[in-house]
Amino acid sequence: MSDFAADITKAYAVEGPYVDLGRGVLDDETHPDAMVRVPLAMMNRHGLVAGATGTGKTRTLQVLAEQLSAGGVACLVADVKGDLSGIADPGDPSPEGAAAKRCAKLGVPFEPTGFPVEYLSLGGIGAGVPVRATVSDFGPQLLAKILGANETQEQSLQLVFHYADTHELPLLDLADLRALLQFLDSDAGKAELEGIGGLSSATVGVLLRSLIGLETGGGNEFFGEPQFDITDLIRTAPDGRGVISCLELAGVQDRPQLFSTALMWMLAELFETLPEAGDLPKPKLVFFFDEAHLLFADATDAFLQSVVQTVRLIRSKGVGVFFVTQTPKDVPGDVLGQLGNRVQHALRAFTPDDAKALRATVGTFPKSDIYDLEELLPKLGIGEAIVTVLDEDGVPTPVVQTKLSAPRARMAPTDDVAAAVAASPLNAKYGTRLDNQSAREILAARIEDATAPEPSPAAPAPTPDAEHVPYPRKAPSRRKRTPAGDAVGGGTGAIGDFLNSRQGKTLQRQVVRGMFDLLRKKL
Ligand SMILES: Nc1ncnc2c1ncn2[C@@H]1O[C@H](COP(=O)(O)OP(=O)(O)OP(=O)(O)O)[C@@H](O)[C@H]1O
Ligand SMILES: [Mg+2]
Repeated sequence: MSDFAADITKAYAVEGPYVDLGRGVLDDETHPDAMVRVPLAMMNRHGLVAGATGTGKTRTLQVLAEQLSAGGVACLVADVKGDLSGIADPGDPSPEGAAAKRCAKLGVPFEPTGFPVEYLSLGGIGAGVPVRATVSDFGPQLLAKILGANETQEQSLQLVFHYADTHELPLLDLADLRALLQFLDSDAGKAELEGIGGLSSATVGVLLRSLIGLETGGGNEFFGEPQFDITDLIRTAPDGRGVISCLELAGVQDRPQLFSTALMWMLAELFETLPEAGDLPKPKLVFFFDEAHLLFADATDAFLQSVVQTVRLIRSKGVGVFFVTQTPKDVPGDVLGQLGNRVQHALRAFTPDDAKALRATVGTFPKSDIYDLEELLPKLGIGEAIVTVLDEDGVPTPVVQTKLSAPRARMAPTDDVAAAVAASPLNAKYGTRLDNQSAREILAARIEDATAPEPSPAAPAPTPDAEHVPYPRKAPSRRKRTPAGDAVGGGTGAIGDFLNSRQGKTLQRQVVRGMFDLLRKKL
């Protein structure tokens, strides 16, 4: 064994289960005995997969997801182009295939394998079990992000949600939000808001206009019931392998704000739902956030703070997040600093801007004794990367040029996503959209009955119509899963009576909804 291979093997030694990332490369030579590995126990310390287009990011993601699944860890992968759906099928067995040839170079046997996959889609746009969220659950901050709202508009949305909460108006879909905005901008609505802050007609106008874009841009499909239960992502197949949930986003590729914010909502739901788990031998779920730059572009400070906090706190719930994007500078420093595992594919260096980005990227890696990263990064081959991860003690490993492992499953789209979806038990649960009574109907009744006396501002009692709303619908099933929720949802006696009362339910809803708001309270 060369000194190089011995050093790398030692630096990347792992006693427990691990992901085999590939083999070390020095001076253009691949060393089959220089194993580059990342412990499963460190996969909740988050990561970044970066690189110019076509350099191998998606295959790296596939390699990680396959091996996590094999190790019993569930994954969610954002399949932006639809080119990850083949992960359910075994790879090309021909010795002339790209994967077989790569394995031969790495000195490992090639075993074509298909993995347990669940296909999801946003609201049923494209093939995949529909993932939906209610507007109420999505919360004002994420909604503001999706609408491209500024700070003032975001604060107005906070007020609107607060009103809906305290008046027990379920905001299930965008039509509910539209109805509520219109109501609050009416004379009757303005009177209701007295004392808790105003809502300017100009702001309402902007929000209503931006809602049109969201409604026609996938929001009508995505928002509504039944809401996706996020714990459905954490499943294992009967053989013990983790289920890979492929969120098929090809149908909404041109609506990046929608899918990036929806992904953030899923992460927020996980944060809210899962109990504290501390450091586990392997994560419960690893979340691959593709096109991550979209999440950070034009974000308000408050939103960014919430993302930073989510990423920081979700690790102790057993969830790892891998951001996939073109360059590390797409990711804010506070987030980047928390990404312990780094796979950096080739970067271009054509223009002065490229050169600047390259230097900035090099600056985010530990210094290397054996590589000149600024020279090496533009020259990396496809499926090669600069790697540093956390070892079993949580210490960053030395930087190593790595020829990445080959995926064992197919590297192209699968033939029939629709058939897999039709056969999925989740499709029975989420396939059909529900249309329950919500804010729109309640408000319509209220406006129609304009001659009725206004509820007193001091004690804004719900309208008789609201009594019939099965509210809150989602909260009980979600609360069951958190220890705090158990105390809330399952209580008996005086506390239970209070919590089952209207006022109590409103409180619960405010607590369980929108971890973004929750976090802001904690900050
Ligand atoms: N680890 C790998 N094993 C085998 N082939 C690979 C590997 N990585 C990359 N390739 C080859 O390179 C091609 C491009 O890789 P990939 O699609 O992952 O790039 P990308 O960085 O995701 O590109 P884009 O930015 O366009 O999405 C693959 O189709 C595959 O043929
Ligand atoms: Mg890709």
